[in-house]
Amino acid sequence: MTTSQDSIDQTPQLSALMANSRERVEAALQSLLPSSTSASKRLADAMRYAATGGGKRVRPILVYAACKLAGGKDEQADVPAAAIELVHAYSLVHDDLPAMDDDDLRRGQPTCHRAFDEATAILAGDTLHTLAFELLALRGSFSAEQRVDMIATLCQAAGADGMAAGQMQDMLGHGQQMTLAALEEMHYLKTGRLITAALLIGRTAAGNKDASLGHALREYGDAIGLAFQIQDDILDVTAGTEQLGKPSGSDEKHGKSTFPGLIGLEASRQRANDLCERACAALSDYGPAAEALITLARYVVQRQH
Ligand code: IPE
Ligand code: IPE
Ligand code: MG
Ligand code: MG
Ligand code: MG
Repeated sequence: MTTSQDSIDQTPQLSALMANSRERVEAALQSLLPSSTSASKRLADAMRYAATGGGKRVRPILVYAACKLAGGKDEQADVPAAAIELVHAYSLVHDDLPAMDDDDLRRGQPTCHRAFDEATAILAGDTLHTLAFELLALRGSFSAEQRVDMIATLCQAAGADGMAAGQMQDMLGHGQQMTLAALEEMHYLKTGRLITAALLIGRTAAGNKDASLGHALREYGDAIGLAFQIQDDILDVTAGTEQLGKPSGSDEKHGKSTFPGLIGLEASRQRANDLCERACAALSDYGPAAEALITLARYVVQRQH
């Protein structure tokens, strides 16, 4: 799970944005996660274990990029970037549990329930989730209106009509032949919603209310969000465990409905590339200012881990 593979087709501008965003969100998480002197050291340790020191940080990178495109500064994106990564980290901790995907490796390390135990992992997921909203409510310098907007966007993306619904569909889809439309909806919900939320939250953090930018970011995010999960499905088939930092072949082992399983590898790659083009087209009015997001869309479908 090396970041050297991130060099694929990247502009210097995107490489700098990625490195800067990763550094900033890592620092924000380090300072905002509970310390081991909090009410339960074990719980605080498990939260930190799951949320720091790994991961591509794609959602935070999107928060910073959207905030910049919307005219904001990096400082304005730090808290929202950390919040969205906490929701993502919680979703991974729960996704790996024996009752869900039952995986033992995440980001090159034992999964949270392996490093600690199942009960601790469930509670760490719960508290990573609630901490995200606590940060949006209380940290950083935002108006009450911005806070409500960011909290509502993140709740709706993660909740019963968002990521959790996609995860439910994923569980119910085990061993079933899904239609392509059902598979797309599941992928859009479980992965796309949070990716679009990252972009919209980045815009709100910048204090930008421009409706056409909101619309463009939504179109871009919905397209790369689906493409991101298609590439995740492709890599589950084509990449090795060491490269991924998580068990390769997990989808087939668990009878998951995936893009390669339903339409084959080539058609899956084609679909991901088409979505990448659609995402880039959504930002065509923004010229060079959108270059980072456009290169990021390419990274999403070309990434190798
Ligand atoms: C994995 O997400 C789960 C999906 C939604 C596909 P990432 O591929 O972003 O995982 P990390 O954060 O880099 O570990
Ligand atoms: C996970 O999808 C989506 C989430 C919301 C966590 P996967 O189950 O395919 O993610 P990985 O492959 O375990 O990272
Ligand atoms: Mg899963
Ligand atoms: Mg999984
Ligand atoms: Mg997967």
